[in-house]
Amino acid sequence: MVQRVYLIGFMGSGKSTLGRWLANTMDGWTFIDLDHFIESKYHKTIPQIFEDKGEAVFRNMEAESLKTLSTFEKVIIGAGGGTPCFFDNMEVMNSTGLSIYLKLSPQVIYDRLQTSKTQRPLIMGKHSDELLNFITDKLKERESFYMQAKLIADANEWKVQDFVEAIEKFPPN
Ligand code: S3P
Repeated sequence: MVQRVYLIGFMGSGKSTLGRWLANTMDGWTFIDLDHFIESKYHKTIPQIFEDKGEAVFRNMEAESLKTLSTFEKVIIGAGGGTPCFFDNMEVMNSTGLSIYLKLSPQVIYDRLQTSKTQRPLIMGKHSDELLNFITDKLKERESFYMQAKLIADANEWKVQDFVEAIEKFPPN
């Protein structure tokens, strides 16, 4: 059985919600949200880190924290939307566990982000067409990274049990 499951995908694709459900369903497994891990490690919120230090520093913290989590066992890790696209993060995830891409269309992501309460520096202040265009462009740019996941899931169709079954039958690294 794999020891780590990495949920990847665009902001708003439901990584944290699914991760919590999975951890509740899978005996002895814990969910860790990478952003929350960074926030507690550096005692700052993600928007504060972006504002005070800038994105480049955030990306270093993110890669460091991912490396730490890649040694934990029986964990579902919710990556940030940008995590797979920087440094060797995709390689770190694929060499230490099962990465799953929660694939959704820009329109569905847009609808979900409209109702999300999480503060996200990259989309702060963007609304309607501007937000939809941003999602469409950014997703195109990022998809080649996301598609390196070991498993691609149609996040609109898959139920929690589909994920559990896929994880259970996936060969360990
Ligand atoms: C980011 C996504 C965020 C967070 C940061 C940057 C991105 O995580 O890591 O705001 O680059 O897409 P979520 O995908 O959990 O919102």
